[in-house]
Amino acid sequence: MDFKLRDFRPEDLERVIFINRACLPENYSRGFFLSLHKSYPDLFLVAERDGEVVGYIMCRIEGTIWRPRLKRGHVISIAVLPEHRRKGIATALLKEALSRMAERYGASECYLEVRVSNTPAIRLYEKLGFKKTDVVPRYYLDGEDAYIMTKVMAPQ
Ligand code: ACO
Ligand code: ZN
Repeated sequence: MDFKLRDFRPEDLERVIFINRACLPENYSRGFFLSLHKSYPDLFLVAERDGEVVGYIMCRIEGTIWRPRLKRGHVISIAVLPEHRRKGIATALLKEALSRMAERYGASECYLEVRVSNTPAIRLYEKLGFKKTDVVPRYYLDGEDAYIMTKVMAPQ
C-alpha cells in the first residue's frame, strides 16, 4: 500500500473539486464542500500518493425524525482518480469513514445513493457490507435511478 489517508484541509479544496469533476457528474459548490468540512471535519478524508491527493470521501451524520436516537452516516461523495483505481484506496477511505461514524458519532447505520448502472461502486459497497435497501426512480438529473444502499453497523 503506497498511499496514505489524512483529514481534508481547506487547501485541498481545488484538488478535491478537480477529482470530483473528473470522476462524477454530481458536482458541488465550493461552499458545499467547505460547509460539510466545517460540520464534520473528521468525515472528510483524502488519500495521497507521492504527496498528491488522488481520492476523497465526504460524509455527514443525519438524525431521523421517527427514531430520534438513531444516527445515520451518509456518504455524500467518494471518488478516486482513474489511474489510481483498484489499489484499495476507496476501500480504505470508506472503512476509515465508517469506523469514525460509529466510534465518534455513535452512528448505527450508514447509507448512500448510487447510480443503478455504477457496478464498480456497487461492488465496493457490497464488499464492505452495504445492501441495496431501496430504489429511487429518476434520482439523478439525467433521469437515472438510484439504489439506496445501507450498512447496519450496530443493531438498534
Ligand atoms: N469493476 C468491478 N468491481 C470493481 C471495480 C470495477 N471497475 N472497481 C472497484 N471494484 C470493486 C472490486 O470488488 C474491488 O475489489 P478488488 O479490486 O479486490 O476486486 C473493490 O470494489 C474495492 O476497490 P478499490 O480499489 O478499493 O476501489 P477504487 O479505489 O478503485 O475506487 C470507486 C472505487 C470510488 C468506485 C472508483 O471507481 C471511482 O472513483 N469511480 C467514479 C466515481 C464514483 O462512481 N463514485 C461513487 C459514486 S456513489 C457515491 O459517491 C455515494
Ligand atoms: Zn446522498
